[in-house]
Parts: sequence; C-alpha cells; structure tokens
Amino acid sequence: MKLEFTSQGRGRAVVLLHGFPLDRSLWLHQREALSARCRLILPDLRGHGASPAPPGAYTMDELADDVIELMDDLGVTEPVIGGMSMGGYVVLSLALRFPREFRALLLINTRAGADTPETARVREDLAQLVEGQGSPQSVVDAMLPKLFAPGTYAEQPALVEQYREQMLRTSPLGVAGALRGMAIRPDRTPDLARIALPTLVVAGQGDQLIPISESQKLARGIAGAELAEIADAGHMAPCENPSAFNQVILDFLDKLP
Ligand code: MLT
Repeated sequence: MKLEFTSQGRGRAVVLLHGFPLDRSLWLHQREALSARCRLILPDLRGHGASPAPPGAYTMDELADDVIELMDDLGVTEPVIGGMSMGGYVVLSLALRFPREFRALLLINTRAGADTPETARVREDLAQLVEGQGSPQSVVDAMLPKLFAPGTYAEQPALVEQYREQMLRTSPLGVAGALRGMAIRPDRTPDLARIALPTLVVAGQGDQLIPISESQKLARGIAGAELAEIADAGHMAPCENPSAFNQVILDFLDKLP
C-alpha cells in the first residue's frame, strides 16, 4: 500500500513511525532539529493520517511491509528506523524479518510483549464501538487521560488539545483495523536476543500507558542497547519534552559509524 509521508533534510535516512491513533504530526518538534543532520522520512501508517484506511485487521507485519514498500519507492537503503508505541511494534517486526535492511533502531515508549487476553478483549470492544459510532471518540476518551505525563495536562494544555483533535480526525476504519492488529501481535520478547543492530530505547519517565519497566526490559533484552529516560514526559515524549528527546536521538545518531 502506498503511504503518504513527509521527507525533509539530507544525508543518512531516518524513518520514524508514529503511534496509535496518531499520524506523522507526532514528529512536528523533531522536523527542524533532526532534519538539519539527516534525511527524515515520516510516513502516515496505514489507516492513519492521510494514508488509505482499508477495512480489516492491520497486522504489525502488514504495517511493516507498507514501510518496506515506501523505502523501495524512495530508493532508501539502510535507514535508521524508529517507532513510537505501535510504531515500535512495527519496528520490531521490521528488525526481526529484515535485519539487513536497517542501520539502527529507535524504540520509543514501546514494548516487546503481546496483549493479555483481557487487553485484546478491550480492544475488540473498542473496535466495535468505533465502527458502530463511526467515530474514534471512545478510543480518544479512553486514551487521552493517560497519553501524557500527569504534569503535562496543566503545563501544556494546548498540546493536549492539539493531539485530541488530531486523534479525532483518524479514520474509524483505521482505528478499528489497528486495534485488531495490535490485539493479535506476537510476543517478541523471546526474539529480542536475535537483534544485533545498534539500538536506542527511549521512554518518557511519566508514561502512563506503557510503564517504563517495559522499556527497561526491552533494553536488557537487546544486546548492547542503550536506554534513555526522558524527564517531564510521558507516552508522548517526542512532543512533551522535545529538546531532551531530540538531544538523545542526535547523540545516538552521532555515534553511529
Ligand atoms: C500507541 O500509543 O501506539 C498505543 O498506545 C499502543 C497500544 O495501545 O498498545
């Protein structure tokens, strides 16, 4: 599937995949800072933003295959590949199935484990609600109170509102497809030991959706992985504390040969 995307800057390619039910605007605060040093490629994943939203469950492998197609179309070879949350599930699919296609990994506010049966049931209930209502409202209502670190709601209300509005614009079919795909994603924990790419794990210290212990487990599971914890940030670390976030990414990119 052809994805819509933004490409900005020159040099080493860095592909960043947003989380659910977000779009490439997640990376607004990375665009200037990172594209000064590399070529940033920011797709909207299937079902999100301006990319097509077909019916059906979107497996993480399918979302990953869309990214490979985009890389082929752009002639991009061996990029650094990064993903936030659901985008991180897609990065793990890419790293495990196409290890030679990538230079390094950025795993941002994400986890290796699969859904519990209870979480998978909740996702199916939400998918049916979203389809029935023809709106992502119930998902946004469920996620928004936990999307940011507790302090961000008072300190950056305009940011919270910006992403509330963005999530509400996501296609109901896309939201349902991603929920069902995440619910059937495999547990990648036993596979982490096979990853031999330079890896940076990044996590907002106040992540209320994916506890920081999950990022610590990821970093322990991948040989040589570094862990960077971002203060004053939650699940949306790239936009809650962009200066700290961008600095750890740039430091990591600088160290790559
Ligand atoms: C995300 O931010 O992409 C989602 O919270 C991931 C998930 O629901 O597992």
